[in-house]
Amino acid sequence: MDGNGRWAKDKHMPRSAGHKKGVDVARNAIEYFARAGVRYLTLFAFSSENWNRPEQEVSALMDLFLSALGKEAGQLAENNIRLRILGDQSRFPEKVAKAMQAAEESTRHCDQMQVLIAANYGGHWDITQSVRQLAEQVKQGTLQPADISSTLIEEGLSTGEVPAPDLMIRTGGEYRISNFLVWQLAYTELYFTDLYWPQMDAEQFGVALEYYQDRERRFGKTSEQLQELG
Ligand code: IPE
Ligand code: MG
Repeated sequence: MDGNGRWAKDKHMPRSAGHKKGVDVARNAIEYFARAGVRYLTLFAFSSENWNRPEQEVSALMDLFLSALGKEAGQLAENNIRLRILGDQSRFPEKVAKAMQAAEESTRHCDQMQVLIAANYGGHWDITQSVRQLAEQVKQGTLQPADISSTLIEEGLSTGEVPAPDLMIRTGGEYRISNFLVWQLAYTELYFTDLYWPQMDAEQFGVALEYYQDRERRFGKTSEQLQELG
């Protein structure tokens, strides 16, 4: 969800106003994709590198997390949407970590859609923590190095049983992954737009979905093989 700061700057507003608008757009995105029948939506809200931003901005983001989690959890539960947090929660202020756990807890039973919020998340961190668990099993003697497979690494990722994304939308005119779901994105269709996240609306989400629908997903096969399969 990139471009909050630049959007605000263009409007001569503080960066925090951009983040606030970003939360509104995130809410709209959840609503839009839920209606479209999407089962899993992951939002990259805060990367493990974002702690390096000015203290004032980090603290404004923490306040936003706190208020958004408090406000939205009830609505999500009402719409049968489960909220999950991806990332290392131990670094968040205790109040924020507690609000995250509470929101996860109060929507745990919901099964229409899962919204995964990547917060203090990094793709490298995710792979590292999965591999570390396997190394522990090897040390205990319950796993042989030769039995380490991509399936085992994948199962240990914070996304666990969540299927790999079909589509990634990156806003803000950057054409990179920026340490998002680096393992999980191996076969994902990538959609880039120069629009800032606060400019995204139902129409633009629709454009992204149309882009996805026009892709032919071959997973390494040839076009002919796929046509034979019908
Ligand atoms: C998004 O926008 C997201 C967060 C990290 C919260 P940015 O803050 O990166 O906005 P730009 O890139 O400075 O415009
Ligand atoms: Mg940015």
